[in-house]
Amino acid sequence: MSMPFRTSSMAVPADEPGAHDARLAAEAIRRRAGAEFRVPAVGIVLGSGLGGLAAQVEDAISIPFADVPGFPVATVAGHAGQVILGTLDGVPVAMLAGRLHLYEGHAPALAGYPVRVLHALGAPVYLASNAAGGINRTFAPGDLMLVADHINLMFRNPLHGPVQPGDERFPDMAQPYDPELRARLRSVAGELGIDLKDGVYMGLLGPTYETPAEVRMLEKFGADAVGMSTVPEVVVARAIGMRAVAISLITNKAAGLSAEPLAHDEVLQVGREAADRFQRLVRGFVRTLGA
Ligand code: HPA
Repeated sequence: MSMPFRTSSMAVPADEPGAHDARLAAEAIRRRAGAEFRVPAVGIVLGSGLGGLAAQVEDAISIPFADVPGFPVATVAGHAGQVILGTLDGVPVAMLAGRLHLYEGHAPALAGYPVRVLHALGAPVYLASNAAGGINRTFAPGDLMLVADHINLMFRNPLHGPVQPGDERFPDMAQPYDPELRARLRSVAGELGIDLKDGVYMGLLGPTYETPAEVRMLEKFGADAVGMSTVPEVVVARAIGMRAVAISLITNKAAGLSAEPLAHDEVLQVGREAADRFQRLVRGFVRTLGA
């Protein structure tokens, strides 16, 4: 699609699509869905190895990122790069299989852009999922962690630059992860008998995994898990007034906490093993949004 990112003359680099582009993207997606379009109750981004939920969407309409204005093509193995509209247990959802990471070289604003698009489609809630390394020594590979809070150690902020129309200039980050939605996820997990840890997600730029010394530092900083995504997305969600919640799949013990070297294949394999629990949890949560 050759649609320009920006039709106004605002001084924002061409690789940093913003609020206006998100409206164009949402229009393009709605047009593709046609009469089938239903306003999503939640926008969901599927993290590494967690893409299987996309196959459970009913009456699915899949649109490649490349066909959505403002989106580049995703590059990482395990990220298909599709926007999927449809329903989960009768509740309308918009799902992104694939995300835009800073380590791919994307501008911070672009990493948060998919959240703007989900919001422009009408989703009031943003649910992020990600693969993360366990820093909390009680966490084991395969554990699911509800994100209580995050630390932005990416040294980047997606809101840096001219304020976007409709954005808060200085968003309050006292409760980045919505307390009521977190309580819902905990109660759904309890009902389904799914063990759900709770902790602080540390966002790093990547793409290298951490050194053991870095992991010891992150532990002292108060992190329970470490990953390379989600933070820019949740920052954007707060700036545009979207309620956010996030689930981390602990795919490995962070570097130095186990004798095993880290490998992306391992991240994907643990994702496959935990997929069923993750999918049941998310579906249970989505059902509460339809009630
Ligand atoms: N570190 C950073 N990101 C990750 C990890 C990790 O150990 N595992 C999965 N994503």
